[in-house]
Amino acid sequence: MRDLIPCYAPDFGQEERMAVMQHLATTQFITAGPWVDKFEREFAKRLGRQYGVMTNSGSSSILIAVKAMGWPAGTEVATPALTFPTDVAALVNLGMVPVFVDCFDTYNADANQLYDLSQKGIKAALLPHMFGIPLPEVVWTLFDKTVEDNCDALGTTINGRMTGAFGTVSCHSFYPAHHITTGEGGMCVTANHDVYSTLFSLVSWGRDCYCRPGYDDSCGNRWGHKISGIDYDHKYIAKTCGFNLKPLEMCGILGRLQLNKLDKYAEIRKRNFEYLYKRLVDCEDVVKLPVMPSGADPSWFAFPIFLKKGDRTSVCKRIEARGVQVRMPMAGNITLHPMMDGVPHRVPFGLDRSTEVMRQTFLVGVNHTITEEECEHIAKVVIEEISI
Ligand SMILES: Cc1ncc(COP(=O)(O)O)c(C=O)c1O
Repeated sequence: MRDLIPCYAPDFGQEERMAVMQHLATTQFITAGPWVDKFEREFAKRLGRQYGVMTNSGSSSILIAVKAMGWPAGTEVATPALTFPTDVAALVNLGMVPVFVDCFDTYNADANQLYDLSQKGIKAALLPHMFGIPLPEVVWTLFDKTVEDNCDALGTTINGRMTGAFGTVSCHSFYPAHHITTGEGGMCVTANHDVYSTLFSLVSWGRDCYCRPGYDDSCGNRWGHKISGIDYDHKYIAKTCGFNLKPLEMCGILGRLQLNKLDKYAEIRKRNFEYLYKRLVDCEDVVKLPVMPSGADPSWFAFPIFLKKGDRTSVCKRIEARGVQVRMPMAGNITLHPMMDGVPHRVPFGLDRSTEVMRQTFLVGVNHTITEEECEHIAKVVIEEISI
């Protein structure tokens, strides 16, 4: 058993190391190329979507997804206050106005409040599935265009459908804390070809051309383009106000190998969650355990524990001192963070539950590196420390 059981931890071994070493030994050109292409196709297919665009992080994927929506500056976008900071940062940095809803018992955006906003004319939403728990399917029908943040929920299903393919664009993270890892990395998936071309351009300096770095004339018409009557190399035509958010080729290599392990990892996460749940269910006088919408089968990101009484900080310190790492529920209530000082936003319903979660919730690990013996240690330590 480890001295500190991590809340989040990556798992890759010889297979991944060898593949990356082999790549480095045989090429000098290590930016995104054919392996990233393959991973994009395989990942999108896995989610039942036609198109994937890999990025250098989940946050980058959210940024380009919001940009690809084409929402005019000042557009009000429904989003929960209990979220990850870069979801809101993407909206703010691109000139949108976040309209914050509170969380529900599931830790996710309150579906009734989302419905209310949609009835009041809000047509845009950015919605994360927090901690692996899926949002009810109905929320995706309330808005014209949605960005789905599936960073915490790869492998989760609701009524048999995988999350990560509900949004107009759905975003994923391969940071080591997540279900599969490429070191840093992210992915947008979409079913819409125009949105896909925009996303591809946005990660690649805004180019119109879809050749990967190091490749020329994939379309056979490189010299058949003009700008304002001037013949111009297609590679140098700027279609969008883009960024450079491409991943390294190694990320594509790692991603393909990790994707093969997703089912195994998701099973372990579910097993670990069930183990902890069964052990903690007798403590419901002290803690509130996570609840799920009907039809949900989460691929858990972590185990959220809401402390009904007691001081969360001292409980967390005691738990960590006994070798169980704890983490906070992401932003808690993002509106209370310094990043929101002076930033235009709206809070139509109050955010009491998000604030309560921010004050009283902590996360412990159920990740796929945690053994049954370690699960038992987590359960024992948590039960003893919350009962003091
Ligand atoms: C829900 C959620 N969204 C977005 C992100 C950002 O992903 P990345 O760290 O790859 O930028 C995270 C990261 O942990 C996350 O948990």
